Amino acid sequence: MHFSCKENSIIKRSGDCLVVAVYREGELSPLAAEIDLHCKQQLSRLTAGGDLTGKVGDLLLIPEIEGLAASRLLLVGAGSLSEGCSEQDYRKLCQTVAAEIKRLGYRHIVSTINQIEVPNRDLPWKIGCETAAFTDGHYRFDQLKTAIGKEEGEREEEKRLEKVTLSVKKRDSAVKRAVQIANALDRGTTLARDLGNLPGNLCTPSHLAATAEGLAAEFPLITTTILDEKEMKKLGMGALLSVSRGSREPAKLIVMEYHGRSGNADKALKQPVALVGKGLTFDAGGISLKPAAAMDEMKYDMAGGAAVFGTLRAIALLKPKLDLVAVIPCSENLPDGAANKPGDIVTSMSGQTIEILNTDAEGRLILCDALTYVGRYQPKTVIDIATLTGAVIVALGHHASGVLGNDDSLLKDLQQAGDASDDRIWPLPMWDEYDQQLKSPFADIANIGGKSAGTITAACFLSRFTQDYRWAHLDIAGTAWRSGDNKGATGRPVPLLTHYLLNQL
Ligand code: BES
Ligand code: MN
Ligand code: ZN
Repeated sequence: MHFSCKENSIIKRSGDCLVVAVYREGELSPLAAEIDLHCKQQLSRLTAGGDLTGKVGDLLLIPEIEGLAASRLLLVGAGSLSEGCSEQDYRKLCQTVAAEIKRLGYRHIVSTINQIEVPNRDLPWKIGCETAAFTDGHYRFDQLKTAIGKEEGEREEEKRLEKVTLSVKKRDSAVKRAVQIANALDRGTTLARDLGNLPGNLCTPSHLAATAEGLAAEFPLITTTILDEKEMKKLGMGALLSVSRGSREPAKLIVMEYHGRSGNADKALKQPVALVGKGLTFDAGGISLKPAAAMDEMKYDMAGGAAVFGTLRAIALLKPKLDLVAVIPCSENLPDGAANKPGDIVTSMSGQTIEILNTDAEGRLILCDALTYVGRYQPKTVIDIATLTGAVIVALGHHASGVLGNDDSLLKDLQQAGDASDDRIWPLPMWDEYDQQLKSPFADIANIGGKSAGTITAACFLSRFTQDYRWAHLDIAGTAWRSGDNKGATGRPVPLLTHYLLNQL
């Protein structure tokens, strides 16, 4: 999907459909009045007849309209013209419009709903909101369906929305920038979602490595290095390798660099921001086997890594002048004769020994070595992103990711970026009392901290490996995918990370 923006002259804008807001008081907005004038008072007549309610989200399609270059007109209720529309209502309205356009199957639409007044929110915010609704609502993952399995309506490839023209009052630089970001986020979240939805037999560590090579081939400012098991062994990554020992797919450590500051991929990075994403391509739990119900969902356990890929794509498209390094430890977690056993003790790259009391707490084992590895870049900031604990879903549900870390100003910046991009996070405490839960009688640290505060003790575990830099951890187990109908990867937190990075300029 491609977003673009043009200044109003809506009468002349061609497309399959023009989307315009109408209001509750039966008043026509200036835009609607302009259309009315050109279309023989068709709208005033509808208002008089009671067909236009103006209630938020009410829709009325006018399939034949004279006097407009666009083929059809979709009217959407936006509440009160004088009071404006609340943030929540505006978001809902955008989603309703996106869903209706999908149902109707149009290819090119022109939308004016950015001109609805939302108190305290500016035009770039409204553009972000509307474009996110289109990106999210029109995403499909049908690459593994053949014509046999496709339902009616899914078959006709041409019935996909390709172009959304945002008709704005004034096309200034802030508006153009918002549209650029919208396009970059569309491409970035789509990559993250595709990888998340791809099943474990296809989305293996090697597939993720190939994806990284693909990004480097596509973008001249990105370089990729893939470390194999032999190289990881040399580095002493005993924690990461212990997880992959139970799997037939070789582990990979993906390292990608984005050279925005120098604009030269051959130069060394300078104090980069580091993103570390969990790339566990299937989590059966290992010997501490998970229950069978919904185990298929553990194909999303690489969503942190996928979000790093998606963010890198968005950043490479926007080309900000900053340096970035991404590290994605990739492995499967399966039961096997060679797999970790409860009680096993392994030595991490940092030298710390770890007692593996539960083989299903594997995310922290692959992340800890990646977090040690990234230290060699002397990063300004490190953010890790992981579907790390089921406990974060108990704490925050599916609305916010959990955030923990060792630097308050970093947490604040991340939270702000999350609010701005409607990709929210919420902090949890990391007091020393929680860290005490990780004591082991036999090793430096245990890999689980008991029943209580699972998200926090997981972060406390990681914090033992992040002492040398500013660090934040995002637990995205509740936000990276949806269960139930409309099941699948969400692409979160690509919007949050992209906004955060753009704010670093
Ligand atoms: N990948 C899971 C976390 C997870 C659970 C993500 C549910 C999404 C939905 C992680 O590897 C895991 O298994 N964590 C355990 C930790 C426990 C053994 C301390 C968990 O949350 O149950
Ligand atoms: Mn697990
Ligand atoms: Zn896992």
